[in-house]
Amino acid sequence: MKAVIPAAGLGTRFLPATKAQPKEMLPVLERPALQYVVEEALAAGVSEVIVVSNDDKPSIREHFSPNVPLFEMLSNKGKTSFADAVAHAGGLPVSIVPQPEPLGLGHAVHCAADAVGADEPFFVLLGDVLVPDNGVLVRMKEVSESHGGASVIAVLRVPREEVSRFGVIDGEPVAGGAVWRVRSLVEKPPCDEAPSELAVFGRYLLTPRVMELLVTTAPGAGGEIQLTDALLALLSEEELYAIEVAPDEGYDTGTLEAWLDTNIRLALRDPALAPVVRAAVGAR
Ligand code: UTP
Repeated sequence: MKAVIPAAGLGTRFLPATKAQPKEMLPVLERPALQYVVEEALAAGVSEVIVVSNDDKPSIREHFSPNVPLFEMLSNKGKTSFADAVAHAGGLPVSIVPQPEPLGLGHAVHCAADAVGADEPFFVLLGDVLVPDNGVLVRMKEVSESHGGASVIAVLRVPREEVSRFGVIDGEPVAGGAVWRVRSLVEKPPCDEAPSELAVFGRYLLTPRVMELLVTTAPGAGGEIQLTDALLALLSEEELYAIEVAPDEGYDTGTLEAWLDTNIRLALRDPALAPVVRAAVGAR
């Protein structure tokens, strides 16, 4: 199975940090966010990782290419762990396809259509959403397999006052409540009208039909071609399931607030960095 990672958005909310570099390349602790996502895909047994990128910001291509002079310089200085980190990132099997214009997430996914092919399901992993323990994709595959190869998305339970920022599912629980059959999806509903508190969370296992539906998906919210609209069209033809991501399992880095929160939460999980966070907070 292949994985598509869209990373060609404008990153407006991080300007000027994203003037010359994609927001997915902003560091979360010592690694760019995108590297976590590539590693998550590979840990799930993905055969090829396809990153959709903006050609004007070449740092993604450079990060996932070897840098022999840097590796040798670090090795010669005895900085072996840094040299290994450089070699590791440069050796990750990533191919890049361009999105000529940021016309929306659905459009970005469709830019990878030729690379994905039309014959098998594929993952879409948002490049600004992290699952560092790598447990979600495997669960999605299991749910898909137990429901005849259906599409599966990940959802995160959010406070009701925040649902208007997300796509929200209307679903009925199956398999004891951790899995839902999706009846409908609503993009950014008013808080008092949202069908649930389960927000779509950056991980999708999709049948090839979704790639076909994206061809005819018209621009929707914000004038952009939305993946959600293709999933809504899918619902009239195929079943769609959702699995819930636990709060300490998924990390959003798509806004400054979320990126900061993610850095702090992941630092607190690291014995070397947790005292730094506690000292900084305690100093206030
Ligand atoms: P976002 O809406 O979070 O990212 O898209 P953005 O558009 O870069 O953010 P702002 O609103 O300008 O601050 C979710 C994901 O989809 C990708 C983004 O890179 C991000 O990972 N995306 C979005 C694309 O690849 N292409 C697009 O045209 C839009």
